[in-house]
Amino acid sequence: MKYDFGQVHTRLNTDSLKWDKTERLFGDKDILPMWIADMDFRCPTPVIEQLVSRAEHGIFGYTARSSDYFQSFVDWVERRHQWQIKKEWIRCSPGILTALSMIVQTFTEPGDKVVIQPPVYHPFPDVVQKNNRELVHNPLVFKNGRYEMDYDDLLRKIDPAVKMIILCNPHNPVGRVWTREELERLGKICAEHNILVVSDEAHFDLIHSGYRHTPFASISEEFALGSITCTAPSKTFNLAGLQMSNMIIADQEKRRTFTKMLDQLHLNLSNTFGIVATESAYRHGDEWLDQCMSYLGDNLVFLTDFIQTHMKEIKVIQPEGTYLVWLDCRELGMDAKSLEQFFRQEAKVAFDEGYKFGPGGEGFTRVNIACPRSVLEEGLNRMARAIQQRYK
Ligand SMILES: Cc1ncc(COP(=O)(O)O)c(C=O)c1O
Repeated sequence: MKYDFGQVHTRLNTDSLKWDKTERLFGDKDILPMWIADMDFRCPTPVIEQLVSRAEHGIFGYTARSSDYFQSFVDWVERRHQWQIKKEWIRCSPGILTALSMIVQTFTEPGDKVVIQPPVYHPFPDVVQKNNRELVHNPLVFKNGRYEMDYDDLLRKIDPAVKMIILCNPHNPVGRVWTREELERLGKICAEHNILVVSDEAHFDLIHSGYRHTPFASISEEFALGSITCTAPSKTFNLAGLQMSNMIIADQEKRRTFTKMLDQLHLNLSNTFGIVATESAYRHGDEWLDQCMSYLGDNLVFLTDFIQTHMKEIKVIQPEGTYLVWLDCRELGMDAKSLEQFFRQEAKVAFDEGYKFGPGGEGFTRVNIACPRSVLEEGLNRMARAIQQRYK
């Protein structure tokens, strides 16, 4: 392997939200952070080299995204996802959440209803409710250790006020990589009821062996025209601090409306370093990503074996994608807040507690395994020791 993902790089004193804010957020600097979704890995070497080279130039005036920038993304989407998109379909924003908020503001009216599928990425409710839209929950169903969409529940909840669904594809935190058939069924319902599908594909490149990601809009022209796809290089290449994201909007009218919003907010330009890193990652990042996914796959096997051997009360929900692992901790018999306190105060690990992800999340926790194996092992040992202490 060219890249050594097992090497530990300290992130302390880099103003890392995950590593430098531990004491402020959790009241104890010795807590091991395994929560927020970024990786403890260095990004692809070509990205670092091009950023250094750009930094050495020393002049950082307003920077335009070049045709090469867009082409690198078009080529990536075709190479990695067999989806042919056009350069002119792409719009940029400083992040997916910023884009989601703009999309809610642009394509719905105050009082309209927006559907989400909990347990799901916790800022989704904010994006809806802080814009004075009504949140509709279409909870996932947990059947035989696997999560599925509940189409009947969705159909029951659809009324003329439902204008949009925010789909999490692949799904954070439950790790499902929705199949083409599942997406087709959802897409047909939305098309019949004129519901805009906003497909958040932040994790689209992080697919485990044996699974395949289907971009929602790639399924048919009807779905492409009735949807907006949100992507970013931030999860794929660990570039979240550079704040770049690309939206794919096939429908000309939707593109025009969204562009108007970008103009209104003066979000026409991007950060110089974000542009350099994104283009370089999409052009030269394949080898890094393949090796990273292989390392993450091994981390997942390690975690699964460790938990099965030492913490039988906890069940691993096998993720099909993402580097986030959803653990069913209900057999520990703690309520949501006690479980959070237990992990933080007794195990001294910080996870993202399940209750934050909405209905169905209580009793679960989300662990970030994008770290060197030695760090993962330390976190798991801390958990196992705390469980032994409490239940001995
Ligand atoms: C599903 C999903 N969407 C969006 C984001 C955030 O994206 P951004 O940093 O581009 O706003 C995350 C981050 O974890 C995520 O998991």
